[in-house]
Amino acid sequence: MTTLTEEQTPGLSSKTALDIMTHLHIVLKLSKVYEPTNSNFVERLGACFQSLRQAFQTDTEVEIDIRRDAFFVNKARMKFNVANYLIYKSVFEEFLAREIGTMTFAAGLDEAELGRFLAFLAPRDASKGVSFERLADEFERAVFPHIRLKKIPEEVHPELSEKSAIPIFMMGVYHLKDMFEGERKAMRIHLTRRWVQSLINHLISHESLLIGLTNIKNFQEYTLNHSVNVCILSLALGRRLGLNRPELIELGVSACLHDVGKFDIDDAVWNKPGKLDPGERALMEKHSPYGAGRLASRTQTEGVPEAAIEVALEHHIKPGLGGYPRYLERRRTHLYSRIVKVVDYYDAITTKRIYRPKTFTPWEALRLMKEVCAEEFDPLLFKTFAEMMGVYPVGTLGALDSGEVGLVIENNPLPGFVTRPLVKLITDPDGRKIDGPAVDLAEVDPDTGRFRRTILKTLDPDVYGLQVADYLIDRAQ
Ligand SMILES: [Fe+2]
Ligand SMILES: [Fe+2]
Repeated sequence: MTTLTEEQTPGLSSKTALDIMTHLHIVLKLSKVYEPTNSNFVERLGACFQSLRQAFQTDTEVEIDIRRDAFFVNKARMKFNVANYLIYKSVFEEFLAREIGTMTFAAGLDEAELGRFLAFLAPRDASKGVSFERLADEFERAVFPHIRLKKIPEEVHPELSEKSAIPIFMMGVYHLKDMFEGERKAMRIHLTRRWVQSLINHLISHESLLIGLTNIKNFQEYTLNHSVNVCILSLALGRRLGLNRPELIELGVSACLHDVGKFDIDDAVWNKPGKLDPGERALMEKHSPYGAGRLASRTQTEGVPEAAIEVALEHHIKPGLGGYPRYLERRRTHLYSRIVKVVDYYDAITTKRIYRPKTFTPWEALRLMKEVCAEEFDPLLFKTFAEMMGVYPVGTLGALDSGEVGLVIENNPLPGFVTRPLVKLITDPDGRKIDGPAVDLAEVDPDTGRFRRTILKTLDPDVYGLQVADYLIDRAQ
């Protein structure tokens, strides 16, 4: 997995920048719970100071700057990924809580000044009624000769940004975490709705980027990541089916909540390696009615859409009413339940789970789903889903006839070119890993009149030790 990287500046290395961010994240957190003299805090402060000192060997100052959803360290934009997202998010929130846009440390800083600064900052955040103006005033009086603060520019809005797909994806995971954790807490469906609206806006212009991000699996907890993936894929499918915006919002919110009943069932059942016994299986299947029950009690009070209750109850029901829970009444399930049924199945079998011996690549998953389609899915919905994902879904690794290996990053929308997506080259013809360009497989060599490259077969990224998601995250920021 790649680590935090940046577009390089001549001085500061990406490793030093990541070190600074990591240590800053730790000391900002610790400064709120420990006295400045606490040995644990002192030790971490020392490590933070060392990371800054390392930077001062090449640069006269370290300027940490937030603009929209990105961090810049000495003007170099820092990229983030699944591994370092928490660090990014935590420091971002500390800045936002104090309306700080830029924090600069200048050479000459010593450990005592840094420690004093952290102790100064810890109690002063906006939730305690400290505006940036007041903070700046007190900062001035406390005198920190080697530290400077600047207010966050107006355009950096602390809410969801429309700019980049990846923060939207991650925020979805954290929002659901917040929402699912406390059964007694209000669900804050208005935030889910807002988040779903951002997703819809993004899908209009960046569908393949967002579908690419559903290759992120098991980030935080399985069910949270899975719910975000199911929401994205359901919305993309809903758009293809011609649903209007209010319908898409209902569908998206319902998709987010489809597995909420899992939180009423012991983790041990979900995470049991191997086959469940009949009792455990029956309990696991209860997540559908449990979810519906949880949501039903909140439609009036919290604005949970009624469709969400049906989706929670019905998303494992097959067209012939097989699956679970058993429906006695022979009626068609809700359209949104049938949509979620298809994409839920896809996301589940493409995700590694302790109890599932085989994880399918996107290409294998579609092939399997085609085989079981008649029994499992509404055939029209599956057909639309398969067309949307393409012959080689985004995230498929392909061996090319040129000897190179390419990762599918975008489908070709032209009819007749479904096997000719846009791929990023990730190895050269000799099998060496490269950070290659994106090439269009529809490109023809004018000398020969033949396609330059063609996918010969798909590959399993695990065999090559590749983290497909990291390439797609890189592309989405
Ligand atoms: Fe489920
Ligand atoms: Fe599910």
